[in-house]
Amino acid sequence: MAVLVCVTGAGGFIGSWIVKLLLARGYAVRGTSRAAADDPRNAHLWALDGAAERLAMARVDLLDRAGLRAAFDGCDGVIHTAAPLVGDPAEILDAVIAGTRNVVEAAADAGVRRLVLSSTISAMYMDPRRDPDAPLDESSWSDLDYCMKTKNWYSYAKTVAEKSAWEAARARGLDMAVVVPVIALGELLQPGLNVSSTHITKYLNGEVATYANAAHAYVHVGDAAEAHVRVLEVPSAGGRRFVCAESSLHRGELCRALAELFPEYPIPTRCKDEVNPPKMGYRFTNQPLKDLGMKFTPLREYLYEAVRSLKEKGFIQKTTHTKAADKRILPTPTENLPAPIWAAKL
Ligand SMILES: NC(=O)c1ccc[n+]([C@@H]2O[C@H](COP(=O)([O-])OP(=O)(O)OC[C@H]3O[C@@H](n4cnc5c(N)ncnc54)[C@H](OP(=O)(O)O)[C@@H]3O)[C@@H](O)[C@H]2O)c1
Repeated sequence: MAVLVCVTGAGGFIGSWIVKLLLARGYAVRGTSRAAADDPRNAHLWALDGAAERLAMARVDLLDRAGLRAAFDGCDGVIHTAAPLVGDPAEILDAVIAGTRNVVEAAADAGVRRLVLSSTISAMYMDPRRDPDAPLDESSWSDLDYCMKTKNWYSYAKTVAEKSAWEAARARGLDMAVVVPVIALGELLQPGLNVSSTHITKYLNGEVATYANAAHAYVHVGDAAEAHVRVLEVPSAGGRRFVCAESSLHRGELCRALAELFPEYPIPTRCKDEVNPPKMGYRFTNQPLKDLGMKFTPLREYLYEAVRSLKEKGFIQKTTHTKAADKRILPTPTENLPAPIWAAKL
């Protein structure tokens, strides 16, 4: 019988890729969603290879601990991805903090072998006293007062949720590991537009004339999913936090990479802030995931995949896409990557 894994937020951007990978690896998957199993928002999951035989869906809210306990029944592992990324601060705080705590308690009650949580790099880098030269690693935590002062409720909620999850997991003797993704980009399996993909749609739709003086790190959504599955599977991953990032770059570099691949879009060429020096991106180390066997997809490939997918799904304007455009990406020698000036690719 196939090993059963529950994925919360199964129909989401990263969740869908995790379900796809788990099915491809022969697992049975029980996905959770607040929507009904036959809701069109989750239709893409039923189209995945192996779904007809090995996928089931459970309708559960993160605030319903008994419902979560029932969803985790008989599961070897649980991967918790469900979370609101934007919206009403009260909803974010409730669903992320209380919801994550419920997931930990329900996973412990159900006796699962391992729980894997999706945290976020926002739970690591939001600290004004952070040494910019020190790479973010599993010892890094965001400063809660700073998150509150800057009203960054998502970062605040995810930091509190992860800390509280560690506390509860230790108290309950639950084997837990955490994946800490940065901005994930790539093909959208789900029908709706997710938050991290809007990070680039604004540049492609001509919604902004300039880019911000800011820097962030990026990763392929499929790699983010793979990280969750590897961390679930590898015995020595228990009790650890894994930064899941490929490269860190300034928005200017991101826009230049997009424009190189898709010159037909009105991508900004100027920074909004023409006074201050360009902001430095945070450094990070993804070595622990590489030690688990991960190889990260290069930026240029997942940017290309993301734009193609956004275009196919109608989230950005369709331009004349020619075979020449395909030649711009495949095959891609890594030495042709736009050199990220502010990159901290460790
Ligand atoms: N995407 C990124 O760049 C990124 C970066 C760092 C960390 N992360 C983390 O990775 C996880 C997945 O992110 P994602 O980008 O895949 O998000 P997503 O596409 O928005 O999917 C998240 C799913 O969570 C469920 N959800 C949302 N609000 C909820 C609520 N109030 N209560 C219960 N369930 C709720 C939704 O499923 P239903 O509507 O079906 O219930 C949704 O499909 C999150 O924990 C996020 O913090 C993402």
